[in-house]
Amino acid sequence: MSEHRFTGGSIRKLWPSETDKFRDHLLRLDRESRRMRFAHGVSDPFVEDYASRMSEMGSIVFGYVVDGEVHAAAELRKLGDHWGNEAEAAFSVEKAHQERGIGTELMGRVIRAARNRGVHLLYMSCLAENAKMQAIARKHEADLKFEYGEVIGEIVPQDANYFSLLAEAVEDRVGYMMAVLDLQSRAARRAQSAA
Ligand SMILES: CC(C)(COP(=O)(O)OP(=O)(O)OC[C@H]1O[C@@H](n2cnc3c(N)ncnc32)[C@H](O)[C@@H]1OP(=O)(O)O)[C@@H](O)C(=O)NCCC(=O)NCCS
Repeated sequence: MSEHRFTGGSIRKLWPSETDKFRDHLLRLDRESRRMRFAHGVSDPFVEDYASRMSEMGSIVFGYVVDGEVHAAAELRKLGDHWGNEAEAAFSVEKAHQERGIGTELMGRVIRAARNRGVHLLYMSCLAENAKMQAIARKHEADLKFEYGEVIGEIVPQDANYFSLLAEAVEDRVGYMMAVLDLQSRAARRAQSAA
């Protein structure tokens, strides 16, 4: 679960300035995935408003980025003003990218980020019919306790340790480099097509 590159893309934390990419990803979710993500059907304006508050809420958002576009995301949201004992998590992978291990990898990132912030309980609004989320949770059963109830999943991360803190810091550096490289290659492509 340590690799962070998938064919054609990579997983990194999104910057607060990347709210529009997060929004576009959520808007691209097919109807069923959107319903599963928000635990009920929601409109485009709702999604736009939700995404615009990504940085306001101080959420940590991991994105699966391909050519500068976000095609999957995992959010870790604090409940209240500070990181406390409990937080909320949510996952979304666009249909074309599902069942390639991206959701599993994203959940690993979220569990570690939660652990590094002293969070011990993670809540997820997960419909009981969501078999894929349950499959992912089972793959992380060493790190989490999942109650397959109606809507709430509970994850119990272990305490932070030197290695979990270091791993997140190293991945943040790699993520930063990937973002810069991505910006450069898109700028070069734009310059080429303008020439
Ligand atoms: C749930 C979701 C995040 C999973 O992402 P993903 O990238 O497809 O997940 P992965 O590929 O890592 O793993 C999916 C697992 O589900 C399994 N699976 C697929 N269909 C299944 C089914 N009907 N029953 C049981 N398991 C199933 C896959 O085989 C895979 O397990 P494996 O790797 O052991 O084979 C993604 O499908 C999604 O965004 N769904 C819509 C939004 C949502 O449900 N969000 C969660 C609510 S917070």
